[in-house]
Amino acid sequence: MKFHVLTLFPEMVMQGLNTSIIGRALENKLIDINAVNIRDYTQDKHGKVDDYTYGGGAGMLMQAQPVFDAWQAVCGEKKVRTIYVTPQGKPFSQAEALDLAKEKELVFLCGHYEGIDERVLEEVVTDYISIGDYVLTGGELPAMVMIDAISRLVPGVLNNDASAHTESFHNDLLEYPQYSRPEEWHGKRVPQVLLSGNHTKINEWRLEHSKERTKRVRPDLYEKYLQKESLIKSLAKNKRSNIHMMESLSRGRAEIIYAKGKDILLYDRACQVCMLSAESPESGEVLIQKVPSGTSLAVTSQEFLNEMLVECLGFQIYHECYQACYTKREPLPVKNKDIRVLTMDSYEYVLQNYHTEATDYIRERIQSKYLYGAYRDEQLVGFVGEHDDGSMGMLFVEEAYRGQGIGTSLEAYLINRQREAGYIPYAHIIKGNASSMRLQERLGLYMSKDTVWWVGK
Ligand code: ADE
Repeated sequence: MKFHVLTLFPEMVMQGLNTSIIGRALENKLIDINAVNIRDYTQDKHGKVDDYTYGGGAGMLMQAQPVFDAWQAVCGEKKVRTIYVTPQGKPFSQAEALDLAKEKELVFLCGHYEGIDERVLEEVVTDYISIGDYVLTGGELPAMVMIDAISRLVPGVLNNDASAHTESFHNDLLEYPQYSRPEEWHGKRVPQVLLSGNHTKINEWRLEHSKERTKRVRPDLYEKYLQKESLIKSLAKNKRSNIHMMESLSRGRAEIIYAKGKDILLYDRACQVCMLSAESPESGEVLIQKVPSGTSLAVTSQEFLNEMLVECLGFQIYHECYQACYTKREPLPVKNKDIRVLTMDSYEYVLQNYHTEATDYIRERIQSKYLYGAYRDEQLVGFVGEHDDGSMGMLFVEEAYRGQGIGTSLEAYLINRQREAGYIPYAHIIKGNASSMRLQERLGLYMSKDTVWWVGK
């Protein structure tokens, strides 16, 4: 991911971001920061970049010309999201960070003095963002704050990617208390349950403490959490058909756009897909109008929606899938013991065997540590993965190794892993894929009666 920072103080930005985790990400070329000095682009022979404000008032304003030329030197004809950091912007949040982390390139424009001439902002800025309700002396610190929050979501930047997905704000709850060695310090003992090794109990304890802390410190967030919990409860009445929406909500990925009875529209930030179910043609039409333009959809299939989506709105149905979920309490036995998280060393192997044109998607899945390989005598013979919507999939076993329980082991391994994270594991099975259906049933997953359409343009 590449960040361009347009600033009067490029050294401040580079020095501020050159240490610790972000410094290492720079060194490993997972991110790149290009700090551009706006002053280098002024046409004023004294190097001036600011002037008095028309209409009077205290202070100076950055002029349009140097800002525009610096921006053009970076973007040229390219369309790059350009963020002006300003107290007048919309508040920065984890949701915003997740959204921006999907971009390949971002430009940050840092103001100084009293701000920047409005005319250039109108021409170049796509997003106005504030880091809080207070006024700083310039935009460099806010830009650095945002770059830090976005960079840690870039695959590979954190050593343990799971932590980017589970901590504060990913499900509208604040993080639970954490402890490290020693077991006793200043007479205070680490809570016993955390030493028990019982992951179900540990997850329960953590959730309880997250809830208690959020309710006390951030009642606004807690309210949002309760709203989601109540929707999850209602979806759980038909778990097999609604598992994708339930899991998107409970894993802290979804925003509720609309929810009343069976009329539900969610937006899953992590995979940027809307999830829709509708009770009637009328409500279906209203919900579809609320879908942000250009967004793909996972739609609980209904004939009246088919007509509307395909014939009237020009959408295409790419896949029709059944949903299979593993709701049992017991972990599954894993016969094949040698299963490992794949690294980029296996990228070509995965591409050769998982036929897709979406090579960037495979790269991202591997870098985010969501693909797992089965080995026999140190040789990779199959893999399974977690899709960006959180479902299990991408299962492959080499022809010569089929019928030996490797596919079963791979999926069982992933099911156990997801259960330990507190998830309900689920998969989407393309209609007609009988062998996958058999595997799901053998492992004890329950199959939905309804199907889900993956819809896009
Ligand atoms: N520039 C000055 N103050 C700011 C703030 N709070 N957020 C973003 N940019 C700023």
